[in-house]
Amino acid sequence: MTQSEPQSIVNGAVHAALQGATSKFRFRSDRLNSNELNHVPRCQFGGREYLVTNVSSTGMAIESEQPLEIRVGQLIDGVEIYHHKQLFWSGSIEVSSLGDESKSAGFRVITGHISLAELQFRDEFLEYRLERYLLRRDEQASGLPQDWQADVAQLHSMLCEVHTTLDAYQKSDTENRWREVDMSRRLCAATFQKWAPQFLEIASRLDQTSSKFDADTKDLALNFSQTLLMRELTHGEIQRRAYEKPQGYAGDFRMMELTQAEDLEGDTLYQRFLQYFSQEMPLGKTVCARGKVALDAISKVAALNRPTKIVSLASGPAMELRTFVRETKNIDYKIDIFLIDQDEDALRNCLNALTKICAERGDNPPIEFHCLHFSLRQIMAPKRGAERELVSQVLKDVDLVYSMGLFDYLPQFLAQRTVNELFGMLREGGELLIGNLVRTTDSSWLIEYASAWHLIYRTEQQMHDLGSVLPVNSEVIADITNRCLFLRATNG
Ligand SMILES: C[S@@+](CC[C@H](N)C(=O)[O-])C[C@H]1O[C@@H](n2cnc3c(N)ncnc32)[C@H](O)[C@@H]1O
Repeated sequence: MTQSEPQSIVNGAVHAALQGATSKFRFRSDRLNSNELNHVPRCQFGGREYLVTNVSSTGMAIESEQPLEIRVGQLIDGVEIYHHKQLFWSGSIEVSSLGDESKSAGFRVITGHISLAELQFRDEFLEYRLERYLLRRDEQASGLPQDWQADVAQLHSMLCEVHTTLDAYQKSDTENRWREVDMSRRLCAATFQKWAPQFLEIASRLDQTSSKFDADTKDLALNFSQTLLMRELTHGEIQRRAYEKPQGYAGDFRMMELTQAEDLEGDTLYQRFLQYFSQEMPLGKTVCARGKVALDAISKVAALNRPTKIVSLASGPAMELRTFVRETKNIDYKIDIFLIDQDEDALRNCLNALTKICAERGDNPPIEFHCLHFSLRQIMAPKRGAERELVSQVLKDVDLVYSMGLFDYLPQFLAQRTVNELFGMLREGGELLIGNLVRTTDSSWLIEYASAWHLIYRTEQQMHDLGSVLPVNSEVIADITNRCLFLRATNG
């Protein structure tokens, strides 16, 4: 550098102008207080043990019940620091300060340094996380039937294997043909056909054994199977949402959309396979089939020779309405369709899809969609004002009120009240249609014990009981898979 060159050109800053701290000038290396740790470290020297109150990379402080027989400046060799009974540091220290009555002292380490990162690793990762796992594992190993544990391990092993196989194929497919829509589906279908029967059979067997568990054993079991199986299932968006509940709940509309989608999504073949698996396992097929029951009811209403009104409660992605709009040829009379969901994203996404399908028809069908960002609670107990007005003035004279995928969350008493409330929205001749899934050994076990998604399944008797509160006779019908029951009632 020449005398005339400004310093900043060479070193990026005028070094003479660099600043120190504006306050708190004394620099101290990072320090960990023992009360921030799960286990207080202990220090041994001179044949005695002391509590370590804080520690830094260059020193530590201890407390003693008896006065310490040491003096400032004294060197002490053979010092050992233990964390939860494991030796973590050893070396020499120098006494740098003594507290009141010599019952506390500060030291400077003079051989090497103390790694705070290692201390935190031991404290948080080993002694908290891993320790908790080991305690739980021990409890699970003794509290859960051996056969049951072995079956869960089999499922895990089968998931690992199919994952590895699909990854290997994907890697070998240098032209990435697996990504093509048809190819993806064919590869997943072939894999499912080969692999799923054994997998589902084990899940069914587990369901039988699990049904005998008492509440404590069930808790242990859920933890065991979810921890193990989600390792592999977390790659699937449906399973991950069910387990992680990203919106505080699963964000079901997206799960339902993926379960009923024609195209498989995902950046790996394995991810797509997990979506395919959700679609093809028995209850996945039922989710599609129950939509067909709703579609038939919608079509029946649309065939009436007059304007009509339909309400879908907990509409989610409303795949059945998408099919209706796409496939129904002549729609001569106006149809007002009210989509009600507490999830704004569900409504936005669904309305976009429905509007797009309407536009693609090219004949501008006389269908008007009304989205109500409304929850069941607002329907059952609307606040005075706009809410009450909406329920009493808008949600009335309806030709069809239907709901699928909501009652599976409602306890019987609330479900009955809801049935009654929805029935009250109907015009004369209007129809109420309420779907509820039936417990299905393999799928229900997987949904619950792998993905932590807990549903209220209903029997035919419980469905009849739902309808018993109505002023008319109701009937219970089933979808084509026989795994979704519908309460159906006509007003008048
Ligand atoms: C399992 S999905 C079913 C969606 C659709 N009916 C189907 O069959 O694909 C459940 C839907 O209910 C909605 N939902 C859940 N609780 C609700 C409540 N209390 N009020 C209104 N909607 C609710 C969720 O946002 C979600 O879109």
